[in-house]
Amino acid sequence: MLPLVRKRSRPGEAHGQGSHEVRFTKVTIYLVERRMGRSRRRILTNLARSKGFYVEDILSGTVTHIVAEGNPAMELWLWLRAQGLPLPARLEVLDISWFTESMQAGEPVPVETRHRIQDSSQQLGTVLTSRVSQYACQRRTTLDNRNKIFTDAFEVLVEHLEFSDSKGPCLAFKRAASVLKSLPSTLRHLGDADGLPCLGEHCRDVLEEIFECGKCSRVEDLMCNEKFRTMKLFTSVFGVGPKTAEKWYHRGLRTLQEVVSQPNVHLNKMQRAGLLYYRDISRGISRAEADAVGRIIAETMHCISPSATMTLTGGFRRGKAFGHDVDYILSTPESGAEEALLLRVIDRLRYQGILLYCDYQESTFDKERIPCRRFEAMDHFPKCFLILKLDAMTVEDGGLQNNPEDQRGWRAVRVDLVAPPADRYAYTLLGWTGSTQFERDLRRFARLERGMLLDNHALYDRNKSILLPAKTEEDIFAHLGLEYIEPWQRNA
Ligand code: CTP
Ligand code: MN
Ligand code: MN
Repeated sequence: MLPLVRKRSRPGEAHGQGSHEVRFTKVTIYLVERRMGRSRRRILTNLARSKGFYVEDILSGTVTHIVAEGNPAMELWLWLRAQGLPLPARLEVLDISWFTESMQAGEPVPVETRHRIQDSSQQLGTVLTSRVSQYACQRRTTLDNRNKIFTDAFEVLVEHLEFSDSKGPCLAFKRAASVLKSLPSTLRHLGDADGLPCLGEHCRDVLEEIFECGKCSRVEDLMCNEKFRTMKLFTSVFGVGPKTAEKWYHRGLRTLQEVVSQPNVHLNKMQRAGLLYYRDISRGISRAEADAVGRIIAETMHCISPSATMTLTGGFRRGKAFGHDVDYILSTPESGAEEALLLRVIDRLRYQGILLYCDYQESTFDKERIPCRRFEAMDHFPKCFLILKLDAMTVEDGGLQNNPEDQRGWRAVRVDLVAPPADRYAYTLLGWTGSTQFERDLRRFARLERGMLLDNHALYDRNKSILLPAKTEEDIFAHLGLEYIEPWQRNA
């Protein structure tokens, strides 16, 4: 059957359908300009019209086929909803591939699933109606954070409260951010937060403001607040916590230059190293750099003990592309040899001339005193916090994440090493993999839901008064009656 050829007089005509013949009356296309760009949209519009397609310039109720290019689904649907038009179920929201194929065919090709840009918030609806757990260890949180606009705001508030030592409200914002990070898509309106745990009144106020104005005024104020900015700067130095930062601020200090040049500012060894290598260690460490550090330590370690092994942990084990440090667990097959191993590794690094800083903490581990009842207590294993000199030659392909102006062929990197006894390995691996919020909730879940005590050393069943042995992380999840969560799903 020949397509019906006619000229149409429609509101769109005024916007440039001009004298082009409309050959396909059942299809009215609207091309989304965002991400496509104005000029490409104009070119595509002209092309379609020349082939007899009807293209609307304005998004209206007569549009049947919306075509977008390069828009993430979630973003596109947020934008579409914001246009305030009814979105009938028949409306096709399509990827540019449908348009391109139709242009090639010279007629609208039938819409297939692969052409459609799916509304991912329907997925969100499913999640919101099924209950989201209040515990991060019962949620799967990847690095794909769909609610960054909200979690960034919460994290600024967290930082501010950490500076003023307000633990309660701080934790509330941390938990709220963590819940939002686990969602498969972006919150569309305040109502979406209704079924979610950990989103109290203060958190909802923040969300509401962001929905209304696109930003949170408290956060905006903080970002230009001199004290907040100075505290952020000072606490970004290795070895400087909120107390020291506050002290410096009250002395009238505002820059790191001022801190270093003031003769009466006392700096401890850690802070001196933190300031000396500030430019390097305030830059993220890439995965390639982390691997290079791993190779150096592995070689060093194997010279001492061929049977010793090491495992990358911390943020890199969770799949992060960048970290503030590199965390490795060293282990020996026989319990008891780990402390000597770590000490000898440190000695060799020093001998190689690459140990720029070392804070060694000897073992205070006492089998009789596990598990520790205190929350978030540091573990008692031998460990060290290092700054190593990483040579560019040792880093594969990517090279160093250096300041471009620092052409010295090396950079300083922060490295943490911990060496637990072999039978404590699984607990240490679980504890050092993080995230901090994930660990916090694992312990809280163990205590409140299972009557168990968990830390980096052990899992203790208070009801049965026994320590539960574990060889792997899976064993620990199983003891807790939790579904296993992969490291890359622990970015809570
Ligand atoms: N950790 C610990 N005991 C320590 C030091 C760290 O249990 N003495 C744990 C933390 O609780 C965290 C993990 O080790 O879960 C990693 O800590 P850290 O390196 O500070 O954070 P990352 O998650 O690795 O983040 P980043 O990439 O910024 O380093
Ligand atoms: Mn780390
Ligand atoms: Mn660390």
